Amino acid sequence: MKIVITIGGSIIIKDHNYKKFMDYAEVLRDLTDENEIFVVVGGGKTARDYIEIARALGSSEALCDDVGIEVTRLNAKLLIAALGDYAYPEVPQNFREALQFASNKKIVVMGGTEPAHSTDAVGSILAEFVGAELHINATSVNGLYNKDPNKYSDAKMYNEVKPSKMIDLMSTKDIKAGTYEFLDMTAIQIIKRSKIKTVILNGGNANNIKTAINGKIGTIILPE
Ligand code: UTP
Repeated sequence: MKIVITIGGSIIIKDHNYKKFMDYAEVLRDLTDENEIFVVVGGGKTARDYIEIARALGSSEALCDDVGIEVTRLNAKLLIAALGDYAYPEVPQNFREALQFASNKKIVVMGGTEPAHSTDAVGSILAEFVGAELHINATSVNGLYNKDPNKYSDAKMYNEVKPSKMIDLMSTKDIKAGTYEFLDMTAIQIIKRSKIKTVILNGGNANNIKTAINGKIGTIILPE
């Protein structure tokens, strides 16, 4: 199966600890026996810190995004280092390169592409571009809730949801990008049009990726 896995930067790198890179590398290596794997890595706190500095220096928002993109690519390089020979050694700068690098039968690891969206959107576009059958988004929450679970104790997690329902939820006050970690609108629009099954799960445990492939976990976004 062709699978795109998006890993939030805050999941894979925390306080300069490299353990999660090793955990993910082990899981991803195991998956290569039966699957073709593409990975998109986020920027996390380092990206936010660098963006803040760029903004304080008077950079435009697009330039701030560009600084964030460089950090996502650095994180991608670290995952490539952890994967060793299983990974294609270069970070693709765009989707076409990702597809080219995949012809070498290696795991392709990339970061961001261009300003004005997140790596969640990159993951959804990459899934569409390479014709993936599954897109997994590893975040810091267990899945999608009907309201902010940090604020409401009666918040319920969806086991399955359609993209249009997510768009409705995003337009309500309680769930907005930034309220709690959640896919951005561009990512959802792409998932809607590509009709690619997408699973949002807690990336705190790298093994959850295997569960998403073989069973059920998190919130599954099903085609309309
Ligand atoms: P992320 O997607 O990592 O954002 O990109 P994030 O919100 O920090 O996500 P986590 O913490 O990794 O889960 C970091 C920043 O890089 C820029 C944006 O500014 C984004 O906020 N970026 C990233 C882009 O402009 N374009 C891209 O394709 C990717």
